[in-house]
Amino acid sequence: MNTTPHRDLRLGVLGYGLRGSIARLAHRPGAGGRVVAVAEHDPVARAEADEAFPGALTTADHTRVIESPDVDAVVVLTPDHTHADLACQALKAGKAVFVEKPLDISIERCDELLRTAYETGSRLYVGHNMRHMPVVRLMRDIITRGEIGQVKTVWVRHFVGSGGDFYFKDWHAERRYTNGLLLQKASHDLDVLHWLANAYTRQVQAFGDLMVYGDNPDRRLPGEPKHADWHDDRNWPPNSQRGLNPVIDVEDVSLVNLRLDNGVLAAYQQCHFAPDYWRNYTVIGDAGRLENFGDGPGAVVKVWNSRRPSHSDQADAAYSVPDDEDDDGHGGADPLLVAEFLRFARDGGLTNTSPVAARMAVAAGVRATESLRAGGVPQEVPGLDAELVSYFENGQVAPLR
Ligand SMILES: NC(=O)c1ccc[n+]([C@@H]2O[C@H](COP(=O)([O-])OP(=O)(O)OC[C@H]3O[C@@H](n4cnc5c(N)ncnc54)[C@H](O)[C@@H]3O)[C@@H](O)[C@H]2O)c1
Repeated sequence: MNTTPHRDLRLGVLGYGLRGSIARLAHRPGAGGRVVAVAEHDPVARAEADEAFPGALTTADHTRVIESPDVDAVVVLTPDHTHADLACQALKAGKAVFVEKPLDISIERCDELLRTAYETGSRLYVGHNMRHMPVVRLMRDIITRGEIGQVKTVWVRHFVGSGGDFYFKDWHAERRYTNGLLLQKASHDLDVLHWLANAYTRQVQAFGDLMVYGDNPDRRLPGEPKHADWHDDRNWPPNSQRGLNPVIDVEDVSLVNLRLDNGVLAAYQQCHFAPDYWRNYTVIGDAGRLENFGDGPGAVVKVWNSRRPSHSDQADAAYSVPDDEDDDGHGGADPLLVAEFLRFARDGGLTNTSPVAARMAVAAGVRATESLRAGGVPQEVPGLDAELVSYFENGQVAPLR
């Protein structure tokens, strides 16, 4: 990669939709990053990019951005099924790459992406922003300090309050673009679950169904834009939603059981018609239990680690989730994510997010989706090639041969 030490990293962005927020955070001329090119199919979004990044090249053709000699690093913010293909093209062109989660929608494509990074030596960074969320880091610190003993079981309940708005009105609702919402939506939490338990999933079993949105006939016509009020707190109850995607073939409720490779047993549950939006984690070790109450500003993580005769709200310890100074996306996680990417793309080194862990989260989500579509039959989750694991765990530096 052609960078000199004190110059802004020149960024080429692919896709400028909702996650265009990541590009805007990374655009900090004179302070490390500058968006110099944007590829976007939609002319309206392209005009918005023109306004956000004056002087940048905007184009409908992603190859012009990937192959531009003026671009040092490529930021992939397109829909899930395009990630590996676009990221591989950029890695082969010698660019550092930021790829949004999930890595892609099949295990094979994720493995191809990791192998391409290994073979080209170009740096690959994955946007698992939850690893930078204060509530997640607090839970991990509590576990690492030994406050609940050795982790034995992790239970995650994910209430996707705005699910009808965000996941059933566009491409997210279709298997061909997402595979299922245990990838697009759960890959974050499966990754965090693995991180808290310090292991990866070996076996999964799941049930799931399309319970609420599938019967709703109020659909957009193919090609018709999303309604102006597609995201609105007044879109309630869920069965009164309007302007859903023409095709809906993903599940709106999923219940997953997981066996991890260190023996930890875990559960993940996701519902897209809950009234409130948050995640509730319970981690039980052999000497205590933690649970989060809320996951944004004002949230608390409580720890119970002395015996008591019945439930008590009075925990042995209660920790406030620290407020982030810069709450500009996902509880302050997105600015930290972008800062870590810019540092890694420029200087290399170890990172909090991990391409191997991201691949293992997709692998668990893919096999869980297969399980629930096969009536709950348990599925084995394949591990990643050991050569790739050691390359990435070593900070993407090839061992001496
Ligand atoms: N980490 C997170 O918290 C988080 C949150 C939301 C979405 N995401 C992920 O971010 C990605 C983008 O999601 P979004 O909500 O912004 O989607 P979006 O549909 O709003 O935007 C995607 C954009 O990509 C454009 N596009 C598609 N193919 C292209 C190509 N080849 N070249 C140029 N432009 C192309 C589309 O026209 C669209 O505008 C997805 O993978 C999604 O799963 C991550």
